[in-house]
Amino acid sequence: MRQLDELWLNSHQVQSVVIYGHRRMGKTSILRNVTNRLGAEIKLAYINLLGVGDTSQGVGEVLMAICDGIAEAVNLPPPADEDLLNLPYPTFRRYLQQVETKLDNQSLIIALDEFEQIEELINKGKIAPDFMKVLRASVQKSKHIAFAFAGLHTLEEMTEDYFQPFFASVIPIRVSFLPPATSHQILANPAIEDFPLDYTRETLDQIHELTAGQPYLVQLVGFGLVNRYNQQVFEQKRDRDPVFTLEDLEAVINNPDFLNKGRYYFTGVWGQATEGAPGQQEILRILAPHPSGLSQSALAAATNLDEASLLAALETLKRHDVIHQTPEGWLLSVELFRRWLLS
Ligand SMILES: Nc1ncnc2c1ncn2[C@@H]1O[C@H](COP(=O)(O)OP(=O)(O)OP(=O)(O)O)[C@@H](O)[C@H]1O
Ligand SMILES: [Mg+2]
Repeated sequence: MRQLDELWLNSHQVQSVVIYGHRRMGKTSILRNVTNRLGAEIKLAYINLLGVGDTSQGVGEVLMAICDGIAEAVNLPPPADEDLLNLPYPTFRRYLQQVETKLDNQSLIIALDEFEQIEELINKGKIAPDFMKVLRASVQKSKHIAFAFAGLHTLEEMTEDYFQPFFASVIPIRVSFLPPATSHQILANPAIEDFPLDYTRETLDQIHELTAGQPYLVQLVGFGLVNRYNQQVFEQKRDRDPVFTLEDLEAVINNPDFLNKGRYYFTGVWGQATEGAPGQQEILRILAPHPSGLSQSALAAATNLDEASLLAALETLKRHDVIHQTPEGWLLSVELFRRWLLS
C-alpha cells in the first residue's frame, strides 16, 4: 500500500503496476482498499477478470467488462456493446480518449484482478495474443491512465510473449507474509472502534508462528477467538477475562471447524501446486510430517524425481511462499498448512 501511495499519489504521472503473490495474500484487498487512500485526484476502476466468463464473443466481451468498470469509476457511459463487439480495439481506444478528456487533471487506475485469466483466454484461443500489446498502447501516451494487474503469477512465470510488451513499463509489487508487528496489529487493534479484547504477548507470538503472518489465516484465527469469546460470554454467560491466552488459541485451532473454514486457502495452495513444475504436491506430502523440515538429500531420497525436476519443483514452491530453505534443508512455511496436509 505504501508503495502504491508513492507511485500514484506522489507523482505527476501514474505508473502501471503488477501486484503478485500467492493465494489469499491480500492482493484483492489491496486494490479494494487503496481507493480509500487515493482521494479525489485518482480514481480506480476495479475489474475482476474471473467474472468475464467464457467470452464466447472474444476480445470485445473482455473489453466490455473493462469499459463497464471504467464507466462506473469515471461516470462516463461505456461504448455500445455492438461497437465493442464489431470493432473492439478502435472502440476501446476512442473510449479511453473520451475518458482522458473527462478526467481533466485527475488520474485513472484500471485495476484488472485475476489477470492470469488473460493468459488462459489467450491459450484457449478466445482472444488474440496481441491483447496485452493493445492494452499497453492504449495507455502508453497517457499521463493520467495506468493499469494495476493483480494475480498469482510471479514475474518469472510471466515471461511468455504476451506479457513482454508490459515488462519494461510495469513496476512489480510482491505481496507476501505480514511481518510480526503487522500480524499483532491486525489481531489486537483491528479496524473496529473500541475493540475491547486483548491478547497475551505469547499468544500473539504463537499466532504469528502458526500462520507465518499469512494474512487470511491471521484473520481467521482472530475471528475464531472472538467467536469463542462471544459464545462463552453471551451464550454460556461465563465470566471470563477479555484477554486471549494460549489455551484459547489451542481450542480454536484444534476445532475441526477451523481447518474446514480455512480450506479456501489450504486447497488453493494445494491446487496451485499442480501447476508448473511437476512433483510439487509429492514434495508437500513428504514434508508434512516434519515440522522442522528435511534436508535436500533426504527429500531427494524420498521422491521419485530426478535432481533437475526436484530443484525445479522446490524453486516453484519457494517462489510461491509455500516452502523455504534453512541451513538444514527445506521447511513448509506455514505451520497451519502443514497440519492441514496431515489431517
Ligand atoms: N492487510 C490485511 N490485513 C488484514 N486482513 C487481510 C489483509 N490482507 C488480506 N486480509 C484477509 O485475507 C483475506 C484474503 O485476501 P484477498 O482476497 O485480498 O487475497 P487475494 O490475494 O486476492 O486472494 P486470491 O489469491 O484468492 O485472489 C481477506 O478476506 C482478508 O480477510
Ligand atoms: Mg484476489
